[in-house]
This record gives sequence, C-alpha cells and structure tokens, in this order.
Amino acid sequence: MSKLEFKLDLIEQELALVNKRLGEIIESAGPEIQEVGDYIFNGTGKRIRPTLFLIAAYRDGKNLSHLIDAAVALELIHTASLLHDDVIDQADLRRGKDAAHIKWSNKIAVLSGDYLLSRAFDLLVSYQDWPMMNIVVNIVRNMSEGEVEQAFANTSMPDLEERYLSWIGKKSASFFAGCCEAGSLLGGDGRSEQLLWSKYGYNLGIAFQLIDDLLDYTGDNSATGKPIYGDLNNRVITLPLIRTIKQHRKQEVISNFIENNQACGSQIGVVARTVLDGDGPAYTYKKAEEYADKAAVLSRQLNSQHKYKALVLEQLAHNLLLRKK
Ligand code: FPP
Ligand code: MG
Repeated sequence: MSKLEFKLDLIEQELALVNKRLGEIIESAGPEIQEVGDYIFNGTGKRIRPTLFLIAAYRDGKNLSHLIDAAVALELIHTASLLHDDVIDQADLRRGKDAAHIKWSNKIAVLSGDYLLSRAFDLLVSYQDWPMMNIVVNIVRNMSEGEVEQAFANTSMPDLEERYLSWIGKKSASFFAGCCEAGSLLGGDGRSEQLLWSKYGYNLGIAFQLIDDLLDYTGDNSATGKPIYGDLNNRVITLPLIRTIKQHRKQEVISNFIENNQACGSQIGVVARTVLDGDGPAYTYKKAEEYADKAAVLSRQLNSQHKYKALVLEQLAHNLLLRKK
C-alpha cells in the first residue's frame, strides 16, 4: 500500500486492520462484486480518509479496534465516489490501470459504487451513533452537491475562482473535515475540539484538491496513475485553467475555449501549453501552500494528547504539497 510519505506509526496496526476488513467486506459479497472489488482495492489507495479519522480518534494507550469498521466505511464511500466520478469525468485510468467503467461498463461501475455505498452505511448503522451518522450523511450530501455544481459550470461564469473554492470545499474538503470531526467525536472530544478538527480537515482537503488539480496539468501520469489533461479533456474547470482564463482572456486560443466551453483534439494541447506557460500552476501551488499552512497552524491548536500526533498532522499538511500522485 502506498501512503503519503510520512510516518504513521501511531495507527499503523489499525491501517493494516482497515485493509484486512476491506478484503473481508469484498469477500462476503457475491462473485460479481468480488471480481470488481478485488480489482479496485488491489491497488495503491492512499487510505487518507481512514488515516485522518483514526488519528483524530487516537488516544494514548486506548485500543481503536472498535473504530475499524467506521474507518472502512469512509474508505468504501470514497471508493464508491471514485467509481462514479470516473464515469462522470470519462476518465479512463485510475491508480495506473483501466478505470472500472473501461474494464467493465458504466453500468457495472455505477452499480458497484452503489453497492459499496450501501455496505458503508451498513457498517455505520451498527454503531447507532446518530451524531456520527449525521456527519457522514453530510459528507455524501456535500460531495454530491459540489459535483453537480462543478458539472454545471462554464468558463463564462463570473467569480470562477470563488465558485471553484466552493466546489472543491464541498466535494473534497468536506470529506476530509468529516473524517476528522467523526474521529474526534468517537475519540470522546467535546464540541469545540471536534470543530477544530473539522477546520483542520477542511483546510487540508482544499490543499489536497488544489494539488490534485495541479497534477492534472503538471503531473507525471505514470506516478498519478491518471490521464494527463483529464480535466481539460472533460471540461472540468479547475484553478490552473481559471487563472489562465483570467489572465489570457484576449488570447485567441483562450477566447475560443471560453466561447465553446471546451477544447477538442489538438486544441487540448495548445490550451494546456498556455496554462503551463502562464502563472496558473504556480498560483495554484501557492494557494495550496496557504491552505496547508492554515492546516498546520490549526494542528498546533489541537489538544493532541500525544507528542507525535501534532507532528504527524503538521507533516501530513506539508507532505501533501510534495506529493506526486
Ligand atoms: C474526485 O475528484 C471526486 C470527488 C472528490 C467526489 C466525487 C463525488 C461524487 C461522484 C458524488 C458522490 C457519490 C457517491 C457515490 C458518494 P476529481 O475528479 O477532481 O479527482 P480525480 O482526479 O481523482 O478524478
Ligand atoms: Mg475525476
């Protein structure tokens, strides 16, 4: 399993249990789901959402084994959303191999996502913890809202940068925030500490998605395991492009792009080159840095209860900026 490169000794055993339990969930399904599940989980997921949840719940000397199912549920929801997302984005590659909708079909990918979502809620319901359920339901609600809003976007909309931050806030940062908040809740923190965790996760999540969107232009697809310029190909409007549109609106290649709200064939390469030659990538990275810094500051305000915990959280924010995948 590939993780973001930081030391996670604190919850190493729990993460191994998360992977084991994920395997059990898939093995308990019928052969068709097993086939899809073996394929999608036999990869290099970063398990970042279970990681955040477990770190937030971590307490010195306390056993976290009762939280494994909840951590697994968060990973199942994430995987379900990716199965759907690759259909929506028409992305052919995920984690270095054919996306599920390419290997099978849109129908299989969407239905398998639905199945994983149902298994996630099955695991969560058994906790009978309604505040936790409320957090997780809001994660899914926010993700869906953010996706729909971004899908309705077009390049002539005003205030694109603010809108973009709201989309990624809903579709990605809310998930990170919810994992942190739920972990803090189940770890026994009071409301103000839970909200601090949520803020940490939100800022981390924005930084994470900014880097994700940057890597779509600057990344090496053998590392990201995703197609290069995938967002541009599928008219997903992200900050590197938004910044380019703002600065080069009069340039023919960009004005054509805005007029048609898309680029086709060889135009993709020309628009991508304009993005790469401008300051969109550096601007996006700088924004990611700002949010990662905010997360690091918040991590120092948390009641960490463990001398390494704050360090891990700060490292997590920093390493996220260096990630190549
Ligand atoms: C990846 O974004 C996708 C998300 C962060 C959220 C996807 C959410 C949904 C499809 C709605 C909720 C659905 C379910 C089943 C809970 P990206 O396309 O920017 O990242 P990528 O480059 O990894 O594809
Ligand atoms: Mg996508």
